[in-house]
Amino acid sequence: MTIAKKIETIIQRSSWIRKMFEEGTRLKALHGAENVFDFSLGNPNVPAPECFEKLLNETACTCSGEHGYMPNTGYPHVRQAVARYVSEEQGADVGEGDIIMTCGASGALNVALKTLLDPGDEVLTPIPCFVEYGFYADNHGGVLRTVPTHPDFTLDLEAIEKALTAKTKVVLINSPNNPTGQIYSLESLQALGELLQRKSAELNRTLYLVSDEPYRKIVFDGHPVPSIFACYNNSIIGTSYSKDISIPGERIGFAAVNPAADYHDAVMGGMTLANRILGFVNAPALMQKIIACLQGTSVDVALYQRKRDLLCQGLAEAGYDFTTPPGTFYLFPRTPIPDDVKFVQALQEELILVVPGSGFNGPGHFRIAFCVDDDTIVKALPGFKRVMAQFR
Ligand SMILES: Cc1ncc(COP(=O)(O)O)c(C=O)c1O
Repeated sequence: MTIAKKIETIIQRSSWIRKMFEEGTRLKALHGAENVFDFSLGNPNVPAPECFEKLLNETACTCSGEHGYMPNTGYPHVRQAVARYVSEEQGADVGEGDIIMTCGASGALNVALKTLLDPGDEVLTPIPCFVEYGFYADNHGGVLRTVPTHPDFTLDLEAIEKALTAKTKVVLINSPNNPTGQIYSLESLQALGELLQRKSAELNRTLYLVSDEPYRKIVFDGHPVPSIFACYNNSIIGTSYSKDISIPGERIGFAAVNPAADYHDAVMGGMTLANRILGFVNAPALMQKIIACLQGTSVDVALYQRKRDLLCQGLAEAGYDFTTPPGTFYLFPRTPIPDDVKFVQALQEELILVVPGSGFNGPGHFRIAFCVDDDTIVKALPGFKRVMAQFR
């Protein structure tokens, strides 16, 4: 074999989302795309706000000649604009020197983990979780460890305390969460902050809290998303505009380091270097200029809320058991049988594509990405109902 064994193994094991994508392509070729109900991918379907398209055109017309390298952290005026917004959102005095523009939230997380992890260091994350976290930890010599959440997917602090070891370096959380849509409460984040403070002292080692927040603005019924900077000093936010402005292909996001972090300058220095040597060099120039003018903007979240309500109402009537997600565009219902793969295969018979919970370390569940047309939801509901009837 010519490629690395590790990569070969990962390709062979291929993620569930990938498998569903391939199955979707096959079914669409066979039955016609309009007859397949594809809820497998978290690709936003609500259009980017009009102001984004307008700024894209204006900026493209006015930035001729401005295509050079820049500081690895990004354009100063962009970081200033982001810092102003984050200061308000986090209730902290965040400045340009705390912000690094990145290639999406994935770029931000990889830059942070590259900076923090020594070989064998552990990254602890509550499950179910985003499927890429294991790869991100491994990219930088770390090991992903998982810890269960409560049945409604809220943080289980006792379990987290038990799971922290002398090798833990990072606790990685994601709220609003993919795949569950759950949002962690202020009380639980404050308790997590206190726990990490106490454990850092006990273990004589700085534990970092990394918060992956690309769904922060996709919340329903005005549900608050608490600030982590106020809960723990040694914290870093990784986020993006992928979901809240519907531009995941443009690869633009940022990392923000808590200005009160103990080794703030070393962490910022490491992350700046990591952005360069991971090969990103800097975040895309054109997108930086655009998002500087779009702080606080988001897609029309009411459209996602309508989809959530349509889906939740229909599935509840069909007998599905789930925690109603206060945010994101994901629903993570329990399967009526323990074997989530078998249940997902039964849904495929109805041409409904969803992802087994096992793919997110959440067996006994499945994920529905409801970033699809309302019509797809309405037309899929009878199929969801028939499959539930088979297993009850
Ligand atoms: C929880 C979570 N984190 C990070 C990412 C990556 O986001 P980005 O496209 O901004 O890199 C995603 C994308 O789906 C996600 O769901």
